[in-house]
Amino acid sequence: MSAPSGLPPVVVAGSASGMLACELAAELDTQPVPVEHERFPDGEQHVRVTDAVRGRDVYVVQSMAQPVDERLVELLLLLDACRREGAARLTAVVPYLGYARQDRRKTAGEPVSARVVADLLGAVQADVLITVEPHSPALEAMHSVRVEALTAAPLLAAAVRDVLPAEIVVVGPDLGAARLVERYAALLDAPTALVRKRRRTATEVQAETVIGAVAGRSPVIVDDMVTTGGTVAAALRVLAEAGCTLPAIVLATHGVLVEPVRERLAGLAITRLLVTDSLPEVDIGRPVERVGIAPLLAQAIRQLRAGASPGALSALG
Ligand code: R5P
Repeated sequence: MSAPSGLPPVVVAGSASGMLACELAAELDTQPVPVEHERFPDGEQHVRVTDAVRGRDVYVVQSMAQPVDERLVELLLLLDACRREGAARLTAVVPYLGYARQDRRKTAGEPVSARVVADLLGAVQADVLITVEPHSPALEAMHSVRVEALTAAPLLAAAVRDVLPAEIVVVGPDLGAARLVERYAALLDAPTALVRKRRRTATEVQAETVIGAVAGRSPVIVDDMVTTGGTVAAALRVLAEAGCTLPAIVLATHGVLVEPVRERLAGLAITRLLVTDSLPEVDIGRPVERVGIAPLLAQAIRQLRAGASPGALSALG
């Protein structure tokens, strides 16, 4: 990996993250460089970057929004194009990293899809991967490239901190959210609870019990993502049974928000649902507040360029 020159960083926008890439570039006092993106008659994607990337410290920004596989292929093509065009250092900025939940085999016959994606990013010779709130801490071990996993928890916590009810409890809607819950609890100076959840299918979950004292407290549910809304809906049911004071506030880094999220969140006792702009905005028929992560990404890039040691950026935010 070559050290960046004194020249400004170069930002390349993928089609899922055009707006975010513009905001990031503005934070870095630059503009995204032009990219040609077309589709061949047979459906293949074709991209072309300019020689503006040659010899430069390049950041390709692409979240794996829907359609996930197309965004992934486009990201790989952009990275390869930049590498072949002579980028000195190549960073994949993938705020929402798809396939991260498939980080282990649950039954025989399955792939480890997160590992396959990691291998693909390694194959196109990205030097660094910057992502936000990745689903699994195992991510770093899967990647051959340097991984910087940022957290949006401080940004989301700051957006609600001054208007919270007096007695809150920070709730993780499943046991996997334990680390995130601790992070928010420290930021909001509040006690914690976890919901024990069982996933029946990819879209069906069942919340079973609450671990922690929640009676009489207003829940702030925190998670890495809201996808179909099943996890939040199930958590609210058991929290109500456990005597929580509803409504709840929901803070989730990634607003994946795919159907049947509209139906699942309709009528739920939620006063505020906050996500970041890691993914494009989706209309789900109810207000969703969006917190910008461009400053967080820019801060990480500035520190990376200043020579921060691997992993040091993970505490940013
Ligand atoms: C699961 O482990 C994740 O952290 C989220 O809780 C889950 O992906 C949310 O999905 P959904 O909204 O479909 O329940």
